[in-house]
Amino acid sequence: MVKNGLPEGLIFYFPVLDSTGIKLRELAQDGAVEGTVVVADEQKAGRGRLGRYWYSPAGGFYISVLFKPGARVGGGFSLVAAGSVIKSLRDCGAEGLNVKWPNDLFLAGKKVGGILCENFAGNMMVGIGLNIFSQPVQWPSDIAAKAGSIELPGTDEQAKKVLLPKLLGHLGQDYENFCSHGFLYFKEELERLSLLEGRQVTLDNGECGKVLGYSDEGGLCLLAEGGQRHTYFAARVLSYS
Ligand code: BTN
Repeated sequence: MVKNGLPEGLIFYFPVLDSTGIKLRELAQDGAVEGTVVVADEQKAGRGRLGRYWYSPAGGFYISVLFKPGARVGGGFSLVAAGSVIKSLRDCGAEGLNVKWPNDLFLAGKKVGGILCENFAGNMMVGIGLNIFSQPVQWPSDIAAKAGSIELPGTDEQAKKVLLPKLLGHLGQDYENFCSHGFLYFKEELERLSLLEGRQVTLDNGECGKVLGYSDEGGLCLLAEGGQRHTYFAARVLSYS
């Protein structure tokens, strides 16, 4: 049965896990259906993009959702999922969030969440980590200057309970639209949510330029100093101004 776009699978809650992604992959290998969700209150080995560590102290919001597209889903879906998260946070009263291409959620200049989409054997797992902390957090020194938190109405526990069904609804609906219409369906909405639109950026491949928006597949389009236009799919934004 499809509810709000996401087929109904079981939701597994754990107080502590190494990583919701590792657990969901095991469940998928044991035959879990599309729409299966793993949620944890703390992760001991949270995984970020490009093999990085995702700091996941107790009380944050860590979730992985299983989709079964049957084929590899394009990288543009990370951006789409970031949009789904922002819409669900807005439904809960949080305004002012932006997406820093390709998968970072920003609030007031700080990273407050991230998306990790992983494809394997016809499956796609969407992992979402959100710093939902109303109390100050002792961030590790390497991320202390960059990390921030989202505060939602009520206690953090109440807020996460309200957020979860809204997030699954938006994500499921957006996944269906992405499968039917592609990234183009979301392009304008996501450009409005972009932290980088119109800004000067430097990429980790040494290229720099002014952000013009997204390509039809979700690549980042830059206007270089010499007037050439380039589209990047696999770079990292080192700085922006
Ligand atoms: C990033 O910004 O690099 C992506 C971070 C994604 C973190 C989430 S938390 C839930 C899921 N489980 C993990 O181990 N990672 C993702």
